Amino acid sequence: MLIDACNIHKAYRNGEQRLEVLRGIDLSLDRGQIVAIVGPSGAGKSTLLHILGGLDEPSDGKVILDSTDLYAAGDEERSSIRNRRMGFIFQFYHLLAEFSALENVIMPALVGISAGYDRHNSDKAPLSQGLLEKKALDLLDSVGLKSRAAHRPSELSGGETQRVAIARALINSPDIVFCDEPTGNLDSKNAGLILELIRDLNKSRNQAFVIVTHNEELARFADRTVQIKDGILVS
Ligand SMILES: Nc1ncnc2c1ncn2[C@@H]1O[C@H](COP(=O)(O)OP(=O)(O)OP(=O)(O)O)[C@@H](O)[C@H]1O
Ligand SMILES: [Mg+2]
Repeated sequence: MLIDACNIHKAYRNGEQRLEVLRGIDLSLDRGQIVAIVGPSGAGKSTLLHILGGLDEPSDGKVILDSTDLYAAGDEERSSIRNRRMGFIFQFYHLLAEFSALENVIMPALVGISAGYDRHNSDKAPLSQGLLEKKALDLLDSVGLKSRAAHRPSELSGGETQRVAIARALINSPDIVFCDEPTGNLDSKNAGLILELIRDLNKSRNQAFVIVTHNEELARFADRTVQIKDGILVS
């Protein structure tokens, strides 16, 4: 088992009101598995993805990655696990405006090196600056953006921004990639390119993917599709 989430609850409080978004979700993935999450807008898909990815503490329940309880671990350990083992493609991308596409893609690797997370990691030695740049360029190439490497986010289209965010999620060769509507802004040709990339990484590197998507082709390609309905998962 790679990741095991059990009995996940999430409630938000707005003044007097308590909104129970997730009401007891169990979800686990093995290495190399692909799970698609579907459900209507507001169902809690992004909320669940953030919780699985160590970004948002659940009100109740646990997320275990390998044998580490993500939210029982300290901040530094959780950040290190996120940086080394997880990739995240946000619904709204969150690229850094001051940096080029290439620099945005490289950023998680630099963060890992400067925080010293590689010391938690015997099997993945940090890459030199030159090799990092090459890897980032190869990733940009694989999302069809080699010629946009020097562009800042404000000089990219919405779909290009999305594809840079995808490349960035992959730079540290994560074991599991969380994707929040990774093809939401893309035409069918580019959506197909992303589908190919996911399929490829899944096959060649045995990377696991949790994908929130409305794209039927992407959902069909998953090993399993789960739906969030009224705060719980239905198959
Ligand atoms: N910080 C917050 N405080 C209060 N309510 C929130 C907060 N974040 C999200 N919500 C509410 O929780 C619910 C689930 O939000 P979430 O973003 O997970 O939905 P989603 O399934 O990803 O929707 P979409 O398909 O539109 O992206 C929504 O009704 C939203 O209004
Ligand atoms: Mg969402």
